[in-house]
Amino acid sequence: MGDSRKIKIGIIGGSGFDDPTLFENQVTRRVTTPFGDPSDVITEGEIKGVPCALLARHGRKHQIQPSDVNYRANIWALKEAGCTHVLATTATGSLVEQYRPGDLVILDDFIDRTWGRKCTFYDNSCDTTRGVCHAPMRPAFCERARQALYRAALARGYACHETGTAVVIQGPRFSSRAESLMHRQWGGHLVNMTTVPEVVLAKEAGLSYAAVALVTDYDCWRENETAVSVSEVLAMFSKNVQKAADVIVDAVQILAAETDTAYLDAHKELVKSSIMLKE
Ligand code: ADE
Repeated sequence: MGDSRKIKIGIIGGSGFDDPTLFENQVTRRVTTPFGDPSDVITEGEIKGVPCALLARHGRKHQIQPSDVNYRANIWALKEAGCTHVLATTATGSLVEQYRPGDLVILDDFIDRTWGRKCTFYDNSCDTTRGVCHAPMRPAFCERARQALYRAALARGYACHETGTAVVIQGPRFSSRAESLMHRQWGGHLVNMTTVPEVVLAKEAGLSYAAVALVTDYDCWRENETAVSVSEVLAMFSKNVQKAADVIVDAVQILAAETDTAYLDAHKELVKSSIMLKE
């Protein structure tokens, strides 16, 4: 095992992770940030000896809709809690035949169709984030964290795709058929409502961020099929969320066992080099 004291893993998800036996030495803390309050309390503890912090993206009662999530506060709070990584789960629709409901996908890119969300820490609202941050988005996700998730899924024998581009829509409504067909033409494999700005803010915070997507439906592009519905998403999510939880738990161990953590410094350096600030 590597020096797991060096890392702490933030987990953004929710249902499926509310098992009180998941964490050893569990403590729950309510925190605030310069960007407001996160979606809910942060639960801290250890997974097989590795420090972790858990936050429910939509609140533990799923009361916050995608465009009202305070993504900045969520990422900031996890960073303040000492997290070096964030592993996220997300329910997604599929835009391609071969990504089937029940499958897992380790996201590697996104197309941003959201608007009006606060997607940078660097807007002069906080003294510690002055200037303008032009964060490069290739790669959008941390490759090391992605590989940890993928290896964990393969080892479990779960149907899992190594890559996938998520089209991130504003919501809360689902896409129209014409939009869904357009998203397919754009090269999207999946559609969801939350990956942006979460991935962007994690990048700005210098964190290693990766997400395991759980495919819940085929959106509404298929011929002669009913469109996605909330009941379908909820049913598929609850049926399969344990897979995503298993993958995250195992990925935590994989990341903690790694001795080469230079990539974490590279994430921090990247942010520094992305900030434009005239003194
Ligand atoms: N989350 C799960 N399924 C979805 C879909 N079809 N569109 C947007 N977000 C989703």
